[in-house]
Amino acid sequence: MSANDLAAIAQAMVAPGKGILAADESTGTIGKRFDGINVENNEENRRAYRDMLFLTRGIGDHISGVILYDETLRQKSADGSSFVKLLGKNGVLPGIKVDTGAKPLPLCPGETVTEGLDNLPKRCAEYVQLGAKFAKWRAVIDIGRDTPSSTSIAANAHALARYAAICQEAGLVPIVEPEVLMDGDHTIERCEEVTEWTLNAVYEALYLNRVVLEHTVLKPSMVISGKKCAKQAPVDEVAARTVRVLKRTVPAAVAGIVFLSGGQSDELATAHLNSMNAQFKGNLPWPLSFSYGRALQQPALKAWKGATGNVAAAQAALAHRSKMNGLASLGKYSAELERQSKAA
Ligand code: 13P
Repeated sequence: MSANDLAAIAQAMVAPGKGILAADESTGTIGKRFDGINVENNEENRRAYRDMLFLTRGIGDHISGVILYDETLRQKSADGSSFVKLLGKNGVLPGIKVDTGAKPLPLCPGETVTEGLDNLPKRCAEYVQLGAKFAKWRAVIDIGRDTPSSTSIAANAHALARYAAICQEAGLVPIVEPEVLMDGDHTIERCEEVTEWTLNAVYEALYLNRVVLEHTVLKPSMVISGKKCAKQAPVDEVAARTVRVLKRTVPAAVAGIVFLSGGQSDELATAHLNSMNAQFKGNLPWPLSFSYGRALQQPALKAWKGATGNVAAAQAALAHRSKMNGLASLGKYSAELERQSKAA
């Protein structure tokens, strides 16, 4: 794959008005989602659920790419065509989660480092053969009384950079995802400090590992109050602090930034993204969009409940959320539009 291809893929991932659907839950994580709707976590139900999502009419209108899990990348739609083909037909790029999860970091109680570098060049080569165009690796940074440690920031930044370099050599655009968790009672100020620290370390590591920034997409968490913090910052403050940190740390060469939702409610995740784009319109070096998992899927999952008869309602819920987030990526979303579109 030539450098031009990687540039074109990265640009397509953050095309105006579009974002990414993260549907790369591991078998364990999708099991937790299925528990909530009383659906058994078996291969056919996982396939049927993803098939329902991917067959949503007009999915490509607001979704540029879908992140898949290893099993899903190999699965087929009900008519026998592969998910990769089905997505491609609708103008949606298939991506693949390549990390193998956050594992305990030795000598750093309560902290993790994301693993998956072993055999990664070989795995990436296979994923390219299977049709993947981009990849994702999620690093997890937890804010606690004595955490994060500089050890965990350095270890995670290093692994993210090694992953990104391997992907680019294999012909995949890496999504670089350092997630600062919302869990805990920390303030938004503390989240801002840790996010700035993390992103600085990540970009230093990417530079050391020769990663071409134009061929990357950043997937950060927003700067937000801890879930259990008594004082929850308002939407415009979350947006302003998030943009401030990104401007301080993320080079303008990066193709685009797509946020994770991280446990925010679906409408709040949309409102935060919209506020960033509305407040800073014309004053941002990169497109700001979404790569939501829960915030895109939750309403569809609830409507689906594992029943064929609910497929249309579930697809309508996904189409609605995708449209709202597409508008937010342009700074054109409003609570009024949310109500109107829901009622339509
Ligand atoms: P959430 O939007 O649910 O945080 O998921 C995004 C994701 O890809 C996590 O790695």
